[in-house]
Amino acid sequence: GKIIPAAITIFGAKGDLTKRKLIPALYNLYTDKHLPPLFTIYCVDFLAEDEAAFKQDLLAGINEFSRNGKADEKEWEGFAKNIHYLQGDFLKTETYTNLKDQLTAFEKKQKQSSTRVFYFAVAPRFIEIIAEGLYKHDLCNRDGLDRIVVEKPFGTDLDSAKKLNRFLGKRFAEKQIYRIDHYLGKEAVQNIMAFRFANYVFEPLWNKKYIDHIQISVAEEVGVGKRGGYYDGSGALRDMVQNHLLQLLCIVAMDSPKFYKSELIRDAKVKVLKDIRQYTPAQVLKNVIRGQYTAGNVHGTPRPPYRKEEHVLSTSNTETFVAARLFIDNERWKGVPFFLRTGKSMPVQSSVIVIQFKDSPHKIFKDDITPNRLIISIQPELEISLLFESKVPGLKMKLKPVEMDFTYQESYTETIPEAYEALLLDVLDGNPTLFMRADQVEAAWKVVMPIVDTWKKYPAKELHLYKAGTWGPTAATVLLKPYAKDWFRLS
Ligand code: BG6
Repeated sequence: GKIIPAAITIFGAKGDLTKRKLIPALYNLYTDKHLPPLFTIYCVDFLAEDEAAFKQDLLAGINEFSRNGKADEKEWEGFAKNIHYLQGDFLKTETYTNLKDQLTAFEKKQKQSSTRVFYFAVAPRFIEIIAEGLYKHDLCNRDGLDRIVVEKPFGTDLDSAKKLNRFLGKRFAEKQIYRIDHYLGKEAVQNIMAFRFANYVFEPLWNKKYIDHIQISVAEEVGVGKRGGYYDGSGALRDMVQNHLLQLLCIVAMDSPKFYKSELIRDAKVKVLKDIRQYTPAQVLKNVIRGQYTAGNVHGTPRPPYRKEEHVLSTSNTETFVAARLFIDNERWKGVPFFLRTGKSMPVQSSVIVIQFKDSPHKIFKDDITPNRLIISIQPELEISLLFESKVPGLKMKLKPVEMDFTYQESYTETIPEAYEALLLDVLDGNPTLFMRADQVEAAWKVVMPIVDTWKKYPAKELHLYKAGTWGPTAATVLLKPYAKDWFRLS
């Protein structure tokens, strides 16, 4: 068929996300020939900008942040001529009429309608304002062609998320709304579906009978950096657990969908969220640990205490670390603890999922047996390995755990796309599989609300301090007992 031109509008063009992620992703899609031959990118923001200078800044962003490093001059030229800066206040009518003129002119020139994508790379307070602007000016009203992409945070609690869903739902069809969780676009995360459901060796064991416990850990080396203004009002629970970590949990814990179809996949994920045990305040205090970093050293660089970071309240009790023990009360998982952990200012960046299997009930060897463990490493390494016992060569029956390893480097020559590349292409293709449906976001908020509420009630109670550059408070390690001595770490 005919390839439909794409008109992509980014609100929040001067923001970090545009420069670090969106433009580099679009540029790579362009150089890899995944964008339609006819496309245009409107970059909207409040400030007056010289278009050439604006583009230079975007180019600097590609050079610094793209997985391919420095942009190719020719490619950049070809790409950049499709970028247009539109100065506009999100609150003003002219912004939308101006945009409409541009879109209409683009489509007229192409003599066909285009897929319109409106990317909300803005602070949450602008989401409803921009949605209303698009709605009022009929910019996004063809439900097969026009889409909006909404970044997290999607609401700050269950009520605000519901309210936002209702607001958007009155103006757009659900299938036009792409709520992004970029973790779902990561290559190694997408591979978990393939690993679980295209292989039959593990799936029969993927349940309470054979699995002892599961760890999902997303450790970050970065601190709060320049994002204190947002982060201090949010904290790790809202920033990471409500979305990224719960989504990882969903992929690990979900039942097989009947087919590889977006609605069935999303249904299966929602079911996991609904089956997670709702904690009482007392259970929250027992099962969820929060921490905040103090001064320390991360890779030899001094890191200030969280409370002295830019735009952070000096008395802040905001958590920069969360560890939680959750249970999924269904047939498959009843009694199996899921340990979730995330933190900033940790010693290294490392996102791993560990499936720890049970000991064999039938022991025939004298040696202590290390339980089988499946380790799915998401970043920075992409790797899956299985730990198993093996006989040490020699004249005695002596056992030692060894590893079977799958690394992308050894198995593939293909490059690994960035999450935003995969997700932006899905938006252009109209594929919502890896995006959050309204009920998914709400179900995820429901899971964390008892924690939000309990912490609100006891703002400083058991806020554990940890030194920047360490693995977080010891309470988080104690939480694992008796299942594990410590959180798994790639050596
Ligand atoms: C974002 C959070 O959603 O994810 C950040 O707001 C966090 O605080 C980031 O640093 C982590 O993403 P990644 O892809 O670097 O693991």
